[in-house]
Amino acid sequence: MNMQIKGTGSSLPANVLTNDDLAKYVETSDEWIKERTGIEKRHISTGETVASLASEACIKALADAGKSAEDVDLILVATCSPEMALPCVACQVQDAIGAVNAVAFDLNAACAGFLFALHTAHSYMAAGIYKNALVVGAEVLSKIIDWEDRGTCILFGDGAGAVYVEADAAKAYNFSFVQHADGRKGMVLKCGTRNLKNLLYSGEEQSMFVTMDGREIFQFAARQVPGCINELLEKTNLSVDDIDYFLLHQANLRIIEAIAKRLKADISKFPANVQNVGNMSSASIPVLLDECRKSGMFKPGMKLVLSGFGAGLTYGACVITL
Ligand code: COA
Repeated sequence: MNMQIKGTGSSLPANVLTNDDLAKYVETSDEWIKERTGIEKRHISTGETVASLASEACIKALADAGKSAEDVDLILVATCSPEMALPCVACQVQDAIGAVNAVAFDLNAACAGFLFALHTAHSYMAAGIYKNALVVGAEVLSKIIDWEDRGTCILFGDGAGAVYVEADAAKAYNFSFVQHADGRKGMVLKCGTRNLKNLLYSGEEQSMFVTMDGREIFQFAARQVPGCINELLEKTNLSVDDIDYFLLHQANLRIIEAIAKRLKADISKFPANVQNVGNMSSASIPVLLDECRKSGMFKPGMKLVLSGFGAGLTYGACVITL
């Protein structure tokens, strides 16, 4: 089964927060942030929601594909920062864009979420259940960040990216995936939600902000992601040299450089936008994909590797022949 990316779109909040802006609120500096992460600025919501950003990204992806919302079979939104537990973001998107015939639900695999959602959409199509899908990564992380914690608040940004994909049953298999989870290390990057408090019980208070062991996460990404990409290449009988571009989750430029080094791949094959948008968790890969695609750098027949990694811990990779 062949699945084609027919359209992409993204949406970022209008408001931009530079490192110098941040330094007015927490004890940090542009120099420190750039040196450790490569990040220069990020978009921060002043009212945009996960659902509104996701909807705008979907509208752009459909326009890019020349499709109307009524044609959509499936809407999958990867997010770890919805405003509401109910209804799910995907149903809010369905309503906002008028995709009245679509099935819609959310999926949370943090920064690997978009990749896991793409794999889910691909599996539905390979099984002949749906013919097309809008796959979205959308986050407003700024509401779950502790803006007094300089170790985390410098890293993240808000935004959404979407792809419209369509199945072509007659053609060759052009997408291949590997995905993994390691819940044993889950507590190195965590964020609580509402504490358990009911008529009968009042649970221990937990932080509703993101907390993280930065060094553990760095080592996890630098070790596991190259292993995961090599596993994918072995599975598909490809080598690093066969890949035109590696589109990695945009956590940090130093992580991307470490992964490129371990893979012995030229860093020029790793497009990056983390400098301008920070880490947008599940939105990172689809926003980068949209930017690269619209810049004209992709040509038919090229091979891309996408790889996501983050809280869970979750990680995965996918190779696409365009
Ligand atoms: N500005 C200035 N100083 C800061 C700072 C900031 N924003 N954040 C931390 N520091 C200080 C620390 O307090 C510490 O000072 P000390 O030595 O006096 O105690 C020093 O800088 C070093 O802190 P440390 O946390 O050890 O820095 P680091 O080299 O590990 O870099 C990260 C921190 C977060 C940049 C790095 O660990 C990282 O990139 N980790 C991966 C995080 C990530 O990508 N998470 C999401 C994955 S999906």
